[in-house]
Order: sequence, then structure tokens, then C-alpha cells
Amino acid sequence: MDMSKGDSILVLGAGGQIGTDLVHTLREMHGGSRVVAADLKPQSGSLSDGGPFLQLDVLDAQSVADCIRTHKVKEVYLLAALLSATAEQKMKSAWRLNMEGLFNLLDIAKELPGLRLFWPSSIAVFGPTTPRDLTPQFTVMEPSTVYGISKQAGERWCEYYHHKFGVDVRSLRYPGLISYKAQPGGGTTDYAVDIYHQALDKGEYTCFLREDTALPMMYMPDAIRATLELMAAPPERVKIRSSYNLAGISFTPAQIAAQIAQHVPGFSIRYAPDYRQEIADSWPNSIDDSRASEDWGWSCRYNLESMTTDMLKHLKAERQLA
Ligand code: NAD
Ligand code: SER
Repeated sequence: MDMSKGDSILVLGAGGQIGTDLVHTLREMHGGSRVVAADLKPQSGSLSDGGPFLQLDVLDAQSVADCIRTHKVKEVYLLAALLSATAEQKMKSAWRLNMEGLFNLLDIAKELPGLRLFWPSSIAVFGPTTPRDLTPQFTVMEPSTVYGISKQAGERWCEYYHHKFGVDVRSLRYPGLISYKAQPGGGTTDYAVDIYHQALDKGEYTCFLREDTALPMMYMPDAIRATLELMAAPPERVKIRSSYNLAGISFTPAQIAAQIAQHVPGFSIRYAPDYRQEIADSWPNSIDDSRASEDWGWSCRYNLESMTTDMLKHLKAERQLA
């Protein structure tokens, strides 16, 4: 999107797993001062030092609207949400944050033509009755989690606001995301981040999912690139306004453990499935993202091997500096 002098980009929920990486990349692309990072919680480090940072609640619609006008915001990334595992524990507050936060932004965008909005959906929109392998873009969707229900409803509302009011809202159904810059925030796929940290720190890991639980996953650099490519696509190429399927890597805990063991000799894993197993069992094994490839040219770069090499390289470097 073309940005004139003085225009900026706003990332809401910037202190989380995706926001930390996204703000960093956007500031490298556009300059620190043009990317406003905002979160409910105060932040330190590059998020607050590398450009403007605001403590802001996405449920406070007036403050969000004021921020968008004051900073001449042309693009908003709405990342504030409660993820799958936390949402099962905090049902009502998850529904409120995940839905009201989105409505606030959709209503603001409705009044501000030219504002482009990114809102992430998830593989959690699918449920136990969905075909599990290479899950198609359009298929049965009967999510069985609080989080999945909120994401599915969110998708419907995004499409509705686009068709009825012309809101330029764009969305991806992210798989589980794996990154080294920030810890994940309460999802069912979090094990696939924690396992790398524990492998280096303790040489062993206890996994809360069964060894054969295949889930769709993606390395963060691919997820950030997908997000920015979707947001940069000409509007006519963004033909799906609910949310695009996005596929990366599909693997089980046993497969990621075997890959890590090639780099960390003696690494061992044991399994102690908890309530998150039921959530994982309701999600697909793998995703068909051919519509994202056809419509705006998406293709994934990292596989399990290249992701593991890169993750461990960065985590080891971090430990040497500490
Ligand atoms: P996260 O939990 O790591 O970060 C969320 C951030 O939002 C936190 O910094 C939190 O402080 C902030 N926040 C919470 N309530 C807020 C409020 N009221 N106002 C402002 N900020 C608030 O989440 P994430 O992993 O970065 O995910 C971002 C988005 O992507 C979410 O919508 C999530 O559902 C979606 N998603 C994430 C993944 C993943 O694997 N990380 C996968 C699929 C979809
Ligand atoms: N990674 C996310 C979760 O586990 C999927 O949306 O909640």
C-alpha cells in the first residue's frame, strides 16, 4: 500500500509472539517512527525504544479511533486475542476480547475509507467433522473450542463488513507459529516452541500432546512474509475476504523431537498429554493453501529441517550473549 509522508501503521497486541516479529520487520521496511506499536501491557526493549509505543486497550474503541486519527494510520494489524488453551480457561473474557476487539476495528474501518485492516484467523476454525488431511479452503467448519468459535464468527463478520460496507479487511488462517524472538501466548501449538528452549536448557522435554499428533505449523519468517504479501496485494487479487488457508509444515511431536536430536545429542522426549490434546485432536493434520498461491502468489519456504537449524542457531546465540 502507498503511504504518504506522515502516514503510519498501527500494530495492536504488538507485545505478543507475532507482534514482536511483525513490528521489527515493519520498522525495518518503513522506519521506526512510522510504525506505532500498542499493547495492553507496558513493553520494554526494541518495541518501545525502536519507535512509538502506546499502552492501549483494543476494547476501548474511542482511544483506538483517536490513535488512528492522530497518527494518520493507513494500515492496522489487530493481533490482540486470547489463544486456544487460555480461551478454554477464560471463556467469557476470550469471547469478549476476540469479538469486541474485532468489531471495534471493523466499525472504525467502516467510517474511514482507505484504512486497510489485517485480522488473523486460525486453523482452529476447523473442527472434528472437518476433513483432516489437506483441509480445503471451503469445507465443513464446526469448531469445538471457544477460540475456534470466535475465529469462525470473526471470519463471517470480516466478509460481511467487506461486502456490505467495502471494508478492506484481509485475513489468514495461521497454523501454529514457531519463533525465537518471543514466547507464545497460551496456544495448543506452543509445545513446538518450548521444545527448542528445553532441548538447549535441559536436554529433555515433556510434551503435553501425544507423540503422533500431527498439526499444521509454520516458521515465523514465513508467516510474517505471508502477512505482508497479503497486505501488499492489489485489492482485486484478495478474492477471499473471510480468511485464507495458509500451509507451512505438518509434523508430530515425535518428528520434531527426532529433528532436534540431530542437533542436540542425547535429547529425549516424554509425553504427558493434558486438556490440550482434545483441542489438538479437533484440528486438521495438514492444510491445502492453493487458493492463497493462486490469488496472491503465496509459497512457503521453510521445512522442518531448515526451521530447526535456524531456530537452534538463534537460540544458541541468545544463550551465549546472556
Ligand atoms: P499473543 O498472546 O502472543 O499476543 C497477544 C498480545 O495481545 C499480548 O501482547 C497481549 O498483551 C495483547 N493484548 C491482550 N489483550 C489486549 C487488549 N485488550 N488490548 C491490547 N492488547 C491486548 O498472541 P499471538 O500469538 O501474537 O497471536 C496474535 C494473533 O494471531 C491472535 O489473533 C491469534 O489468535 C492469532 N494466531 C496466532 C497463532 C500463533 O501460533 N501464534 C496461530 C493462529 C492465529
Ligand atoms: N497457535 C494457535 C493456538 O494454538 C492456533 O491458532 O491457539
